[in-house]
Amino acid sequence: MADTNAKLTVNGEEYELPIIEGTLGRPVIDVAALQESGFWSYDPGFKVTAPVESKITYIDGGKGELLHRGYPIDELANNAEYLEVAYALLNGDLPNAEQKADFFEKIREHTAVHDQLRKFFEGFRRDAHPMAIMVGVVGALSAFYHEDLDVSNEEHREITAIRLIAKMPTLAAMSYKYSQGEPFMYPRNDFNYAENFLYMMFATPADVDYEKNDVITRAMDKIFTLHADHEQNASTSTVRLAGSTGANPYACIAAGIAALWGPSHGGANEAVLEMLDEIGTVENVPEFMEKVKSREVKLMGFGHRVYKNFDPRAKVMKETCDEVLEALGINDPKLELAMALEKIALEDPFFIERNLYPNVDFYSGIILKAIGIPTSMFTVIFALARTSGWISHWLEMHSAPYKIGRPRQLYTGETRRDFVEVEDRK
Ligand code: SDX
Repeated sequence: MADTNAKLTVNGEEYELPIIEGTLGRPVIDVAALQESGFWSYDPGFKVTAPVESKITYIDGGKGELLHRGYPIDELANNAEYLEVAYALLNGDLPNAEQKADFFEKIREHTAVHDQLRKFFEGFRRDAHPMAIMVGVVGALSAFYHEDLDVSNEEHREITAIRLIAKMPTLAAMSYKYSQGEPFMYPRNDFNYAENFLYMMFATPADVDYEKNDVITRAMDKIFTLHADHEQNASTSTVRLAGSTGANPYACIAAGIAALWGPSHGGANEAVLEMLDEIGTVENVPEFMEKVKSREVKLMGFGHRVYKNFDPRAKVMKETCDEVLEALGINDPKLELAMALEKIALEDPFFIERNLYPNVDFYSGIILKAIGIPTSMFTVIFALARTSGWISHWLEMHSAPYKIGRPRQLYTGETRRDFVEVEDRK
């Protein structure tokens, strides 16, 4: 019989800490009783802390398993469209035919952005990083949707989720077009979600006979699905913490975009391509690996806080990579280089002992590059796709009573009690 309580004895006092079982994965120990103990729990990096209960995504790091609303990621990526997965994240299950038609129509209705928002881009230099633009522009949406947005109103919350998922491709494509000095393309609502994004990215007003490419469209849609959600990662936790103050949801998503940008998180896909460029050829791999082992550099696209086996998304991403390169007849030497890195890493004790395997970011950049997406846009695409996850967690947080997130600390600073007059200070 499993224990129902954990016991903590400290300073002669015993505390009963309830154990709470979930549907899958590790049970949790509720440490609220520490409030009476005179101690805080201490967990830098939140390695063993579960700040929330959630029904959206489950990850088993040991098995390399990722479920969205209970469905394995490889089944979703290979058999569903990204918007169907987004619907499941938002609503708890995949849509039936009628729900799918209704949801897809709602998204189509909200793909355009307020024309005045277009002027917001002009404040950026043309060489601004697209992620810098996205943080600014998505945050600016809170100025357009503030008056008629009451976060306590369920209908307001739901239309906000639709607006964000619908507008992210438009804003992402605009951030690219702006950097290229090309005119923005209005969304085409006769195209599906991935087709529309690729159209807004690569078509120009002169393209009267723009042609879709089904292989690229399907690969793009799969990449969106593989990045849709991932439990309480750093950017999702940022969105939840910002949301816990009752902040405007567009500002919360902008906070998530900012957190995702870091090279340890969503910025890794861009860093992988820069790393492959730096290595250059397979002959240079051994020397580079020595730099990794001496901790001069990290092997970007490898390692994960949760997956201590393979990242199931990396497997699907690698399959998609092979499909796209073959279909496009591209023989990208970077793929050969990446595979050489992976082979060496998977056989080297340094990586094996540290459970370092390719993560979602290792192969994604090679596909995106093959599709023609510039490296600087890789994390923007990650943010576009993760918006459905972020806003699902925001909705989940608002669907039940919540408290403002307010962690405590271990204070190790000075203990000056007496104020020192200026003339006496050192
Ligand atoms: C994402 O959380 C999520 O779910 C994120 C994400 C999502 O979908 O939201 O999955 C997306 O962010 C994927 C991760 C992308 N980041 C990278 O590829 C950057 C490279 N990876 C590392 O920075 C690192 O692996 C992290 C940040 C991903 C995880 O770091 P942890 O869990 O804090 O692990 P750690 O730093 O404690 O490392 C343990 C050991 C250390 O060695 P020692 O000092 O103990 O000897 O492994 C080493 C680290 O130095 N290590 C690496 C390494 N990652 C960890 N060494 C070389 N190369 C690496 N990539």
